[in-house]
Amino acid sequence: MDRIRVVGGRPLNGVIPISGAKNATLPLMIASLLTDQTLVLENVPRLADVALLQRILGNHGVDIMVGGKRPGDSEYKGQTLHISAADIVDTTAPYELVSKMRASFWVIAPLVARMGEAKVSMPGGCAIGTRPVDLLLMVLERLGAEIDIDGGYVIARAPRGLRGGEIVFPKVTVSGTHTAIMASVLADGTTVIDNAAREPEIGDVAACLNKMGAKISGAGTPRIVVEGVAKLNGARHSVLPDRIETGTYAMAVAMTGGDVTLEGAQAELLQAGLDVLARAGVQIAATNTGIRVVRNGAGLAPVEVTTDPFPGFPTDLQAQLMALMTRARGTSRITETIFENRFMHVQELVRLGARIHLHGETATIEGVARLRGAPVMATDLRASVSLVIAALAAEGETMVNRVYHLDRGFERLEDKLVACGADIARISG
Ligand code: EPU
Repeated sequence: MDRIRVVGGRPLNGVIPISGAKNATLPLMIASLLTDQTLVLENVPRLADVALLQRILGNHGVDIMVGGKRPGDSEYKGQTLHISAADIVDTTAPYELVSKMRASFWVIAPLVARMGEAKVSMPGGCAIGTRPVDLLLMVLERLGAEIDIDGGYVIARAPRGLRGGEIVFPKVTVSGTHTAIMASVLADGTTVIDNAAREPEIGDVAACLNKMGAKISGAGTPRIVVEGVAKLNGARHSVLPDRIETGTYAMAVAMTGGDVTLEGAQAELLQAGLDVLARAGVQIAATNTGIRVVRNGAGLAPVEVTTDPFPGFPTDLQAQLMALMTRARGTSRITETIFENRFMHVQELVRLGARIHLHGETATIEGVARLRGAPVMATDLRASVSLVIAALAAEGETMVNRVYHLDRGFERLEDKLVACGADIARISG
């Protein structure tokens, strides 16, 4: 199993190219199930989760061709996927595959919308919380599907197709909103989705579906209206930049000091995160090519932050911010409101010398003058990268184990950091 070795203490200077967003790519690939024509996705990041979803879709009969590199393309340019679900040969998503990646459960909506049935394994719990799918099933029932649970599988049936309806989410959910959109685009009639998630990735999927012929309005607001259409076509769509990757590298620069341009990043996707960094004393500027992050000399000010659905501070940056605040001049407080158990990084950061106390859903972080390298590991993607951020500022060597979590969501992490002067390397095997 690969590990990453980091020797801390070097500032970051240079340019980091930002990849396409993982959390838009996955639902966009799943949306390909809604049409028998080819969907071309550009700027797709090379990630383990993307490769796994290619296998999962392949199991349903989807053909995926990965476009070759063109002369002049940089190694960071995303890949182009040509996805064709001309014939869906199997409407079952088996446990062995769904248990490896929760988002693959989302195939249930397009499969039942287009094929009238789907049998998809329940995903089970995961490292960041219980993560139920009750609201996804509520959506399908509201749109006319019959739901059975048998042998660990959800069986959804709508032999005469889904029909439009009213959906009011009792809490904001990204997965629920993706499901509602994908289930309603081919439904008979109009669907109104209230208290919808406003994450930019929802807007990106809706924009792509509209290019395919769907009639979705209001994506990015709490009320989305979908007028069902009989059929969707192929389209070409470029995945939006990854706001979590952007925020992660911004925090890495804030941690080490230096001057880095995050190329291709869009500040409006991450305003709450950038505001927190500015409050901590980091200089942030939107430029023609992306976002420039600068910290010279001065220490970091502590912050109080609560995670919230978009446009609030994202839960997917909570661990990284906590790593950063371990070195602030004073006491910070970070409250996690989205996932009840997303604090796996706390004890690992403590191994590096951080002072963190947990009280329910709030972590209190007393800034320390220095961190010291140690072997660490984490059980989810964002927790793992928070350890890399801490390691970049720790004295001596840190070995981050279980790197496969990082490979799920960060494309060429160590290459991007090395190019800016970090002492970081992957150790294979
Ligand atoms: N929830 C329910 N019932 C449901 C669905 C969700 O109670 O049926 C709860 C969840 O347990 C959670 C809250 O609602 O407490 C929000 O969950 P949501 O559905 O919004 O999250 P998700 O769609 O499962 C996506 C991202 C996560 C990100 C969250 C929140 C993808 C593939 N995943 O998950 O990303 O943290 O939204 O923004 O888009 C990551 O990339 O590391 C990651 C975990």
